[in-house]
Order: sequence, then structure tokens, then C-alpha cells
Amino acid sequence: MEPDLEKLEKAAAIISSSGRLVAFTGAGVSEESGIPTFRDPGGLWDRFDPYELGGGDVFAALARGSGFTHRAADFLEEMIEVMERAEPNPGHRALVELERMGILRSVITQNIDDLHGRAGNSRVIEVHGNAYRMLCLYCGRRFMMEKEELFRLGRDVVRMLRKEDLAGVIARISLCECGGPCRLDVVGFGEPVQRMGEAIHEARTCDCLLILGTSGEVFPANTIPSRAREAGARVIEINATKCCFPGLVDVGIVGKTGAVLPRIVEMVSRYRGSGVSPL
Ligand code: APR
Repeated sequence: MEPDLEKLEKAAAIISSSGRLVAFTGAGVSEESGIPTFRDPGGLWDRFDPYELGGGDVFAALARGSGFTHRAADFLEEMIEVMERAEPNPGHRALVELERMGILRSVITQNIDDLHGRAGNSRVIEVHGNAYRMLCLYCGRRFMMEKEELFRLGRDVVRMLRKEDLAGVIARISLCECGGPCRLDVVGFGEPVQRMGEAIHEARTCDCLLILGTSGEVFPANTIPSRAREAGARVIEINATKCCFPGLVDVGIVGKTGAVLPRIVEMVSRYRGSGVSPL
């Protein structure tokens, strides 16, 4: 379905007159990079139990027994395959262009796939962590892992889970210099989110919030849009199926971010080039 041209132009006009734009993104932005979303039909939480696999406590999970270790292996294997192939898509690159134009100040993301950083945005606030960063459970040290090294580790753990070799898993994840076992530095259900203070500050001091590809189902990340609105910001939403923040937005566009955002950025570039303030 072709998005409404008038809405694209209105969004472009608002963005081109913004000087402190902040983007707030969810899994929908990475869908066109091949990473499944969580709540769309056929999404991850349709096929895996989020409360079983979306938690963070590795040891409690492993202690659940053999049924879990095989489901965990399936989940981990799928995530490795999609993440290994994933590259930034035109939606990610459009946000980099907005930063280059001096309009976008930061990206607040719920995504853990590192695609905003790899696309080139310089200020990315990852409130649900980053799948390429490890956290030592003994000393608390955090460190990034190279993609290839992380996927090798992941495939070794999948193999051990399938053999229910839990001792082998613990030994394999004991990567820290202190000898401690490590976990992905991502936020599981019921765990505290990361950098939320920074995210709230960005929402409350921006003049426009661009909501991209999120169902708005998960607290406290889903409070970001209302905090921006309360502080007087304009709010624009792009979502492939429906507007998830109907009471909040100035413009709600139904469309894929990888298709819609580059068109809006091209209009902004024309507005900026003409020197005419469209608002
Ligand atoms: N372009 C724009 N929107 C899209 C696209 C796309 N190409 N594809 C899907 N969408 C929309 C869907 O319509 C849906 O509203 O993106 C949204 C994705 O919603 P979810 O799957 O719920 O993902 P998200 O909102 O990021 O979930 C938040 O929940 O499970 C936790 O930690 C997980 O960070 C995640 C959080």
C-alpha cells in the first residue's frame, strides 16, 4: 500500500525545521535486514516462549532441564543465522543521513543487533543492551566481541546444549580475564533496562521524536514517546501495519521504514537545499 504523499510531505516539513531530532526504534527497523520482529505474525514470540527464552539468568535457565536446553538451542541457532546475515538497510542509512545533515541528535533503540552503530549513527542509546557485548557474571566487566568470534561461541554453545553438556557450556562461556562465566549483555524480561536516564533526557529535550517500527508493548521503553510529547516535541511514527501511538503523533505513516524514511529524507534534503522553511 503506497503511503499517503501528503503525510510524507508533512513529516518532511516537520523534520526539516527540526534541530534536535531524536529517533526511537524497535524491531521493525531491522525487519528489512532479515531479523524477525517479536510480535508480528510468525515473529519470535509466536514461536518461542519469551518468558522462558527472553530472560537473562543463564544458570537458572540451564537448570530447567533438557526440554529447555533443546528449545534454547533452536532459539540461539535461529538468532545466529539471522544476525550473521543482517546488514544495515535503507531505513538505518536514512537515519545516518539525517545525522550527517545535522538534524538527528541521537537514536534510542530497543534493538540489540548493533545495526544503527554499524550503519554509522554516532549516538545510539541501546536500552535493551547489545548482543555483541558480553557481561562477566563474576567481575561485572563488559566487553565487545567480534562478530565471527561471537558466532563461533554461539555455535559451540548450541552444539553443547543439544548434547545437554551443561558443564561444557559453562566452561565455554567462561571468557572473562578473571575466569568468570559471561552472558550476552542484553536485557531479559524482568531485568533492569540500560541507559534509560539518558534516553529520557533525550526524549524530554528533543523538538521532534521519530518513532520507527515498534509496537510500543514493552515498558519502560514505551514511555519515551509520551515523555517527548509532554515536553512539547512534535511526534512522527512510521510503522508497517498500524499506528501504535495514535493519541500522540502529529503524523502517523503506515509503511516500511526502509521504503518510507529514505523518501522523507530526500524531501528534507530538497527543503533544506531550497532554504525554504516549509512550516
Ligand atoms: N517497517 C516499519 N515497521 C515495521 C516493519 C518495517 N519493515 N516490520 C514490522 N514493523 C512493525 C510491526 O508492525 C510492529 O508494530 O514493527 C513493530 C515491531 O513490534 P515488536 O515485534 O513488538 O518489536 P518491538 O516493539 O521492538 O519490541 C520491543 O520487546 O520482546 C521485547 O526486548 C524485545 O526490544 C524488544 C521489545
